[in-house]
Amino acid sequence: MPAHIGIIMDGNGRWATRHGMPRAVGHERGVEALRRTVKAAQKFGLEYLTVYSFSTENWRRPMAEVSALFALLKTFVKQDLARLKREGVCISVFGTREGLPDDVRALLEKAVRETADNTAFHLGIAFNYGGREEIVRATRKIADEVRRGKIDPTDITEHVMCEALDTAHYPNPDLIIRTGEEHRLSNFLVWQAAYAELVFLDVLWPDFGEDGLLSAIENFASRERRFGGLKTGAA
Ligand code: IPE
Ligand code: IPE
Ligand code: MG
Repeated sequence: MPAHIGIIMDGNGRWATRHGMPRAVGHERGVEALRRTVKAAQKFGLEYLTVYSFSTENWRRPMAEVSALFALLKTFVKQDLARLKREGVCISVFGTREGLPDDVRALLEKAVRETADNTAFHLGIAFNYGGREEIVRATRKIADEVRRGKIDPTDITEHVMCEALDTAHYPNPDLIIRTGEEHRLSNFLVWQAAYAELVFLDVLWPDFGEDGLLSAIENFASRERRFGGLKTGAA
């Protein structure tokens, strides 16, 4: 069983187009798939789940779609926060607050604040997130510590870098699942995914749920992770 699964929830727009509906409907159905997936992850005893819901590159889309995605996030927090709190879910948000409307920012902060003491399940929401942007922000933090004389450049290690990232309190993802037929990371957890197992599924995100999560976990279980070493028993 992986400790941390990351999911690139892709294919909402194509799902809608294939069903003859506007893209926004695909995003709405995507939220339902997210609810199903969180529920299944809790049921399977997963500890950490991070979902990619808005990338720093998604600003390139028409403003109407960006606004629709923000509105959906707000609705999700408003409708689901109380239940997630009751279920002991601790919410973290990864990404930059820069550029986000105040109400979106406030709701994200509320979700993090009100679930901070929970430990039953960890839900990471990568929102306005880009792996490279995260690394740049982390580098700035470290550079500032060097400038203030708190650390020396020779003290900068992989560990220091990990601690400066938004995901400092999360283990690295063991498994990254991408739905929606594309085979790429699209700037998701680029540092953290160095040794993640990757599973690409043809299913479009609105059709994803418990079965898809289970089959990805089974696929993961059949992999041999070597981390640069040798096959067990080969030496
Ligand atoms: C994923 O679905 C949701 C976000 C990226 C916000 P898309 O909107 O990317 O759907 P496709 O890839 O166009 O089908
Ligand atoms: C990745 O999907 C981002 C999210 C799922 C939030 P995209 O649809 O934005 O990725 P590309 O453009 O196909 O690489
Ligand atoms: Mg897409």
